[in-house]
Amino acid sequence: MDTEIINISKSKNKAEIYKKLQQYYKSDKLVAIPTETVYGLSADATSDKAISKIYEAKGRPSDNPLIVHFYDVKQLDNIVDYADDRVGILIDKFWPGPMTLILNAIENNGISNNVTAGLNTLAVRMPSNTTAREILKETQVLLAAPSANTSGKPSPTKYEHVYHDLNEKIDVIIEDEQSDIGLESTVIDCTKNPLVIARPGEITKEDIENVLGEGSVVYNDEIIDEDQAPIAPGMKYRHYSPEAELILYRHSFEDLLELLKTKGKETGFITYDNYKNKLKGLNISIKYLADSEKSVEQSSKNLYNILREFDEENIKEIYILPIKENKENVALLNRLNKAISKK
Ligand code: TXA
Ligand code: MG
Repeated sequence: MDTEIINISKSKNKAEIYKKLQQYYKSDKLVAIPTETVYGLSADATSDKAISKIYEAKGRPSDNPLIVHFYDVKQLDNIVDYADDRVGILIDKFWPGPMTLILNAIENNGISNNVTAGLNTLAVRMPSNTTAREILKETQVLLAAPSANTSGKPSPTKYEHVYHDLNEKIDVIIEDEQSDIGLESTVIDCTKNPLVIARPGEITKEDIENVLGEGSVVYNDEIIDEDQAPIAPGMKYRHYSPEAELILYRHSFEDLLELLKTKGKETGFITYDNYKNKLKGLNISIKYLADSEKSVEQSSKNLYNILREFDEENIKEIYILPIKENKENVALLNRLNKAISKK
């Protein structure tokens, strides 16, 4: 059956919709919801059945745990241990917002074991997106939600992306605006000292150091040993990949331009507005991440959408020039590097 699409902001009777969603959650249904980072595929975090349906719909490996979403820190009281001064400071500063905290789980907290994939920690996040917050508040359900894409594809930043991947596989899609941030939340492992950034995101190492001090947090740069449960199990998988081969071109712009002149409509190029003038007359598909390399927020917001647009156009190879790493673009480069072809 076709997935139901609901637009809450356009509806006259919101209370009725929230009641319906609550009933859906209580009958183990899957609902894709907007968040400020990417769209999430949500279900009742206390239901084994609902959670196993999430893994099935996404084709997600079962050793990759999910994030539990909530709207009020009090809801965490009997779920995770957050009585750590560092955690208190992070919560005050960055929630609601694009930050996920890995905390020690409290025993018998009612959260399905399928959410944590057998770990004794639990990842939790308080999203800032208005629609997500309203749904969490009005339904009073703790929602486990991974990104609402087919496993391995770029995360969805528009409700249409969710429809493309999961139509007929999930019950509802909440139609809302394009995700503001466009990359998944920063995941911070708070069971470690110093704290460990398990997945970079919009909240950077510097942002964390600004409130907790220098040396309070490190990136998880360790080589991933397949036999060892990695710190964010999801990070070991190849992610965010378009169908096309994404090629990092390590020579000069001029050399690439010569190469692109020989290419046709099955080739794509990801670049910035400030190169536009030099690209006239090419027969390839060109997409612009932002006005210039300096616009990290704009680039982050556009990246996944661009990768998906190339797939819609049946592009076979996509070229991109190296982007210089700085303190702000760690998450963007992390996702790009995961999408780049390792062939
Ligand atoms: O922005 C986001 O975080 C989005 C929106 C929907 O909230 N969600 C999201 O979920 O990106 P997902 O499932 O695609 O990614 C969650 C990441 C995975 O890399 C997973 O391995 C890690 O968080 N994770 C979850 N629970 C964990 C735990 N207890 N310990 C370590 N890593 C965990
Ligand atoms: Mg994901």
